[in-house]
Amino acid sequence: MKSKNYIGKIKTITKINKDVYKLDISSALQDCKSGQFISVLCPNKTLRRPFSICDFDKENKILSILIKLKGEGTKYLSNLKENDEINFLAPMGNGFELFEDKKALLVGAGIGIAPLLFLKKEMKKKNITNYLVSGFKTEDEIIKGSDKTVVGGSVLDDIENIIKDKNIDIIYSCGPNIVLKKLSQTAKKLNIPCYVALERVMACSIGVCRGCIIKLIKNNEINNFSVCKDGPIFKGEEILWD
Ligand SMILES: Cc1cc2nc3c(=O)[nH]c(=O)nc-3n(C[C@H](O)[C@H](O)[C@H](O)COP(=O)(O)OP(=O)(O)OC[C@H]3O[C@@H](n4cnc5c(N)ncnc54)[C@H](O)[C@@H]3O)c2cc1C
Ligand code: FES
Repeated sequence: MKSKNYIGKIKTITKINKDVYKLDISSALQDCKSGQFISVLCPNKTLRRPFSICDFDKENKILSILIKLKGEGTKYLSNLKENDEINFLAPMGNGFELFEDKKALLVGAGIGIAPLLFLKKEMKKKNITNYLVSGFKTEDEIIKGSDKTVVGGSVLDDIENIIKDKNIDIIYSCGPNIVLKKLSQTAKKLNIPCYVALERVMACSIGVCRGCIIKLIKNNEINNFSVCKDGPIFKGEEILWD
């Protein structure tokens, strides 16, 4: 589906934990898939802010995002009220690819759980076996919805055992680069495909400014790809990690 500019309305805004808010937005957006994101315009800010879609109610045309407070843009969004307007581009990016015959492990670190909650819902609809593990630094940062929640330690501490115990065929992950890099290396060692959702600071978010470029190695050739347009989902094994 081609991305367009929408003026949506805030349906509900809910405080999820100490610094995360859930925004339910009604708009004319007809469809989207997990792993895609929206790019939100904030007043007095030239650059739009990207947020993963964490749910989409197709019948009522309501999309949801989770906003973790960071700077001025996220502060503005967390202060929106019911019926306030919100200007965004959607759906952006490629989204996750689903495989109906593969047992999936979903690994989220912190706010990286956002696109995985939507992915889990899509997998449930298609009867795809899945197991979502998420990790948070402290109790008051927990975002609910996982099959297993790790607090304090690394979400990767027990990951090899989980992969083996649950006969995992494929991995999907979102979180800080260091987690995605290590998980991709583990997946490669175990010969399991691993899709990662990358986060990069974005300027245009439509593939024009070249500000979000990463390098991928495919068929022994290294080429540049943009996270906003070609991604944000990539195969971990193809990324030339920093
Ligand atoms: C594909 C994608 C999906 C994302 N999904 C989510 C999500 O579901 N929930 C969530 O809370 N955050 C998400 N982020 C991060 C979010 O976009 C930033 O936290 C947000 O833009 C910060 O804006 P700010 O004005 O509050 O912060 P500031 O630090 O004031 O932002 C200044 C500039 O840097 C950019 N920026 C700052 N931090 C980031 C970052 N981590 N990633 C990308 N750009 C950044 C901003 O867009 C802005 O242009 C996602 C980022 C990407 C690229
Ligand atoms: S943000 Fe401009 S090319 Fe990706």
